[in-house]
Amino acid sequence: MKDSNPSTEPIGQNLIKLISNLCFSVFVFSVLIFTVIAITYQPPDPWLESAPALTKLFTETENATFQNDNSIIKTGEDISYALTRAESPTSSVITEAVIDKSEEKIANLTLQSGCEELGVVNCSDPRVLVTIEKFNLKAFKSIVFLEYQTPVNGSKSGECDVAWRFRNKKEKSWRKYRDFRRFKLGVGENCAYKVVHAGGWHSGINARRPRNRFNATRVGKNTKVAPRFRDDEINDTIPSLGSEMNFRKGKYLYYSRGGDYCKGMNHYLWSFLCGLGEAMYLNRTFVMDLNMCLAATYSPSNKDEEGKDFRYYFDFEHLKEVASIVEEGEFLGDWKKWDRSHKKRVPVRKVVSYKATPMQLKKDKNTVIWRQFDAPEPDNYWYRVCEGQAAKYVQRPWHALWKSKRLMNIVSEISGRMDWDFDAVHVVRGGKAQNKELWPHLDSDTSPDVLLGKLKGMIQPWRPLYIATNEPFYNYFDKLRSHYKVHLLDDYKELWGNTSEWYNETILLNNGRPVEFDGYMRVAVDTEVFYRGKTRVETFYNLTKDCKDGINTC
Ligand SMILES: *[C@@H]1O[C@H](CO)[C@@H](O)[C@H](O)[C@H]1NC(C)=O
Ligand SMILES: *[C@@H]1O[C@H](CO)[C@@H](O)[C@H](O)[C@H]1NC(C)=O
Ligand SMILES: *[C@@H]1O[C@H](CO)[C@@H](O)[C@H](O)[C@H]1NC(C)=O
Ligand SMILES: *[C@@H]1O[C@H](CO)[C@@H](O)[C@H](O)[C@H]1NC(C)=O
Ligand SMILES: *[C@@H]1O[C@H](CO)[C@@H](O)[C@H](O)[C@H]1NC(C)=O
Ligand SMILES: *[C@@H]1O[C@H](CO)[C@@H](O)[C@H](O)[C@H]1NC(C)=O
Ligand SMILES: *[C@@H]1O[C@H](CO)[C@@H](O)[C@H](O)[C@H]1NC(C)=O
Ligand SMILES: *[C@@H]1O[C@H](CO)[C@@H](O)[C@H](O)[C@H]1NC(C)=O
Ligand SMILES: *[C@@H]1O[C@H](CO)[C@@H](O)[C@H](O)[C@H]1NC(C)=O
Ligand SMILES: *[C@@H]1O[C@H](CO)[C@@H](O)[C@H](O)[C@H]1NC(C)=O
Repeated sequence: MKDSNPSTEPIGQNLIKLISNLCFSVFVFSVLIFTVIAITYQPPDPWLESAPALTKLFTETENATFQNDNSIIKTGEDISYALTRAESPTSSVITEAVIDKSEEKIANLTLQSGCEELGVVNCSDPRVLVTIEKFNLKAFKSIVFLEYQTPVNGSKSGECDVAWRFRNKKEKSWRKYRDFRRFKLGVGENCAYKVVHAGGWHSGINARRPRNRFNATRVGKNTKVAPRFRDDEINDTIPSLGSEMNFRKGKYLYYSRGGDYCKGMNHYLWSFLCGLGEAMYLNRTFVMDLNMCLAATYSPSNKDEEGKDFRYYFDFEHLKEVASIVEEGEFLGDWKKWDRSHKKRVPVRKVVSYKATPMQLKKDKNTVIWRQFDAPEPDNYWYRVCEGQAAKYVQRPWHALWKSKRLMNIVSEISGRMDWDFDAVHVVRGGKAQNKELWPHLDSDTSPDVLLGKLKGMIQPWRPLYIATNEPFYNYFDKLRSHYKVHLLDDYKELWGNTSEWYNETILLNNGRPVEFDGYMRVAVDTEVFYRGKTRVETFYNLTKDCKDGINTC
């Protein structure tokens, strides 16, 4: 039927339209029921440890969107999985025994060590490193130290900057982080070095490796920005395919943007991992759009915000390492270039419906398989490709998805400032506390007096207490300050403020424009710090008997 003005249509036609609309609604509804069943009956999948939460979310929303999106799902590095063992540290762990050994070696080399020799602190002296290694081992009990670099001079005499890699014993993945700190050293009574003062996280800037090797790599999406301050640990530049021949040799799976755009983050991940999973199943390179749209629930402006970058939230470097991907812009550029300069065009198979299953595409030899998602919602969601039978073949590669290391550096910093020794409470308030129908007791159970009373039974007095919360009023928890050393995310504002490393690094991804520390980042950091607490008190089932998802859901 072609588009015509409804007022001039005969009544019969309107009736047909009405009936077909009705039929469509019934169809959508039955598709939903079907998908719900399909998802519920997913085969056991080792990667899906974090999926039950998503599946539950999915089954609870009638119209197949992830409305209930104010939670952070666990990503690859939160889940212990077999693959991590393959990337377990090649570097050895620096233990007391290792230090003793190197001390012995030093002693054998420099037979006597007179005090006069130690008059000035010589940072390259191996004994300096040993002293600092010993100090760190005592100071940070939950950290595994992996490898140290030779200390270098600090800003003045007596100071040395040292860099090392570490991981937290608490963390399940072997993801390594880097720290570099400034130490002030002195000479002790027994003519040995001792640490007089240790600087904070990333204070030893001279020990940071020179970053000029990043000189000419592309950082922004559209421009070549000369990087100024970069954490040399993070290489999330956009890979290029190199020559045209390389492009032509590849096989690609290209998903054009669908209805998932600007939906919640859990919806995005559920969809993205479906596409990536299909590409892996088909043994193709996945064409990836790094542009994201942050849903209104997470943006401070309360509007959907376009122009976000995948790399603000997730670890693109890790993704590049474990999956075959190409950035959409690069891909389209190379494709166009090829078609312009060659008689024979690149073979493409266009797939217009999600109902074409991955299994049907397995034999396809075309260079590009292009899935288009032009149907009306909810048929234009990427994740629909992975429903039904496909779920048995395509597995979502949860292991490929880690949180952004830039965010995790903030998490490490906050935990580090509390010396990795703190308890944590998660206090859910916000909209749920206001909704007395679904959460009748939540508001009162999380009120300062009641909260304090409950925490007293679970957490020792004067422990450092990290409160992860969506309560916007900073002083709301002041009552707790007479019993605990309270820490809130906003106490660490400078970590993403305009003088921070995070700010300097993210600005490079955004063509020189500052990046806002948005709601999703806040919740991600808040949640990850919470996970690192020694005693953890959750809102639901620890503080209140109300159910997480509303009355009568537990
Ligand atoms: C479906 O989703 C839309 C947008 O998220 C929402 O406005 C609407 O109320 C939802 N419908 C139902 C039945 O939940
Ligand atoms: C140091 O010297 C002692 C004896 O001279 C020897 O037994 C020991 O193995 C040496 N240690 C190292 C690490 O070279
Ligand atoms: C510092 O120590 C290193 C290694 O022991 C040595 O090579 C260097 O000469 C020393 N420098 C000074 C100024 O003593
Ligand atoms: C480090 O400082 C010492 C004295 O403080 C000086 O002798 C040495 O040359 C410095 N090393 C470098 C590499 O600047
Ligand atoms: C880095 O850039 C500077 C100036 O822009 C240039 O002189 C230098 O050769 C470059 N280094 C590398 C390794 O490309
Ligand atoms: C960054 O990663 C890309 C691969 O994605 C690699 O080609 C490039 O050499 C890396 N850059 C550095 C400086 O390690
Ligand atoms: C996947 O593709 C690569 C190159 O395109 C090929 O070398 C490899 O054999 C393929 N593997 C499978 C299992 O099809
Ligand atoms: C950083 O922000 C503060 C206040 O928001 C402002 O006064 C200051 O000028 C900013 N500094 C830079 C370097 O942008
Ligand atoms: C961020 O960059 C500014 C100048 O561009 C620099 O002054 C500041 O020290 C940098 N901050 C960090 C933490 O690297
Ligand atoms: C919170 O509740 C869970 C489940 O009921 C329980 O296992 C945990 O020990 C509680 N935490 C505290 C700190 O009491």
